[in-house]
Amino acid sequence: LKDGVGRLPALGWNSWNKFGCDINEDHFLTAADKLIKLGLRDRGYEYVNIDDCWQVKDERDKKTGRLIPDPKRFPDGINGTADKIHAKGLKLGIYSSAGDLTCQGYQASIDREELDAATWAEWGVDYLKYDNCNVPKKYQGECQYCVPEGPPSRQFAHANVNGTCTALSNPCPANYNYKSSPTFHRYNAMREALAKQDRTILYSLCQWGEMNVDSWGNETASSWRVTNDIDPAWERVLDIWNQMTFRLHSTDFWGHGDMDMLEVGNGLSLAESRSHFAFWAAMKSPLLIGCDLEKAKKEEVNIMMNKHLIAFNQDSSVGRPAMPYKWGTNPDWTFNASFPAEFWSGPSSNGTLILLFNPYSDTRKKTTSFSEVPELGGGWFEVTDVWTGENKGCLRDKIDAWVDGHDTAAYLVGERCGIQGGYLNGNQKPVI
Ligand code: DGJ
Repeated sequence: LKDGVGRLPALGWNSWNKFGCDINEDHFLTAADKLIKLGLRDRGYEYVNIDDCWQVKDERDKKTGRLIPDPKRFPDGINGTADKIHAKGLKLGIYSSAGDLTCQGYQASIDREELDAATWAEWGVDYLKYDNCNVPKKYQGECQYCVPEGPPSRQFAHANVNGTCTALSNPCPANYNYKSSPTFHRYNAMREALAKQDRTILYSLCQWGEMNVDSWGNETASSWRVTNDIDPAWERVLDIWNQMTFRLHSTDFWGHGDMDMLEVGNGLSLAESRSHFAFWAAMKSPLLIGCDLEKAKKEEVNIMMNKHLIAFNQDSSVGRPAMPYKWGTNPDWTFNASFPAEFWSGPSSNGTLILLFNPYSDTRKKTTSFSEVPELGGGWFEVTDVWTGENKGCLRDKIDAWVDGHDTAAYLVGERCGIQGGYLNGNQKPVI
């Protein structure tokens, strides 16, 4: 959505994954201070986002009909919190649902879009996450979107292919116009309300990938969730990552599939955290930190600070995500596969990113030849290790990597080099 913000995936922090409903203003101010102190703000993490449970539970303001922030949690109101967050050079996000109530039963915004959008704008809010709970009867009863199935080849990832719908009780008919669905209406009503405000509020759909949101999310919002909720379990990370593989066609500048907030720091191993972060960044998902930054280990913070992966995610010249170029050893090429593709690449201003994922629990050797990487073709190339920053020099024809269980080796492949590349060994000057 070209509305001035959200050309690139949003970077920030959100309270839900770690704190759930146990929130008050202190959590957000502490997170903001940590973003600054740890250097994350300087790497681009700018949104501090409030999730569910920020309000008084059962009522709106009797006179104005406005949402009421819980005075115990936010003693100075949301506008007070917004002022404090802005004073730290950061931005504030808020949350509601396109239903009668939020998922946790607080007041939500269906049919009150303009009033709520105006309220948030007046409070100084910069970001809205719009959830999908408690949809009123009149908007229910839709057909079910059929998720695509098939091998996630590069071609497939580019094409918006409809799969088979056998598992669904009420599948949408072929050629169904998703923009005539009540869901589209619910989410666009808020988009229109936000557009009427004289404050720019980044609009993020929390629509769980339903109703073919990939086909209309892009003209409605800056990002749209592609699945239901993440949790800090390796299997869940794999599942979301695999599902996004089938939805990559819709991500580019101004519109991003949202793979849900990060679980780095919430119990995954360091190897799993590296894979999780690398692929969320490479698939150009918004990157919203979801842990307690006061308790996060240094190694975990370092993963989320990785300058090469953040640069790939935030590349101002390339909007397309990385994609698989080879599936690997997984026998099962479906949307429900037990793990995603193992060989990925993507172009960027700083070179070609290559990710080699080891889905097994023991250490394995992964080899890729440059000739099988679509961005490269054969030859010799300068290679940098994305995790260590080490310049590996001019590599001849291929990369060999020993990758720990659940870990991902990550490389940036730069200039051609050496005699095979048409250059002197390690020397960027062409041979005359
Ligand atoms: C469902 C969303 O998908 C989560 O990210 C979170 O916002 C919860 N609702 C809050 O109730």
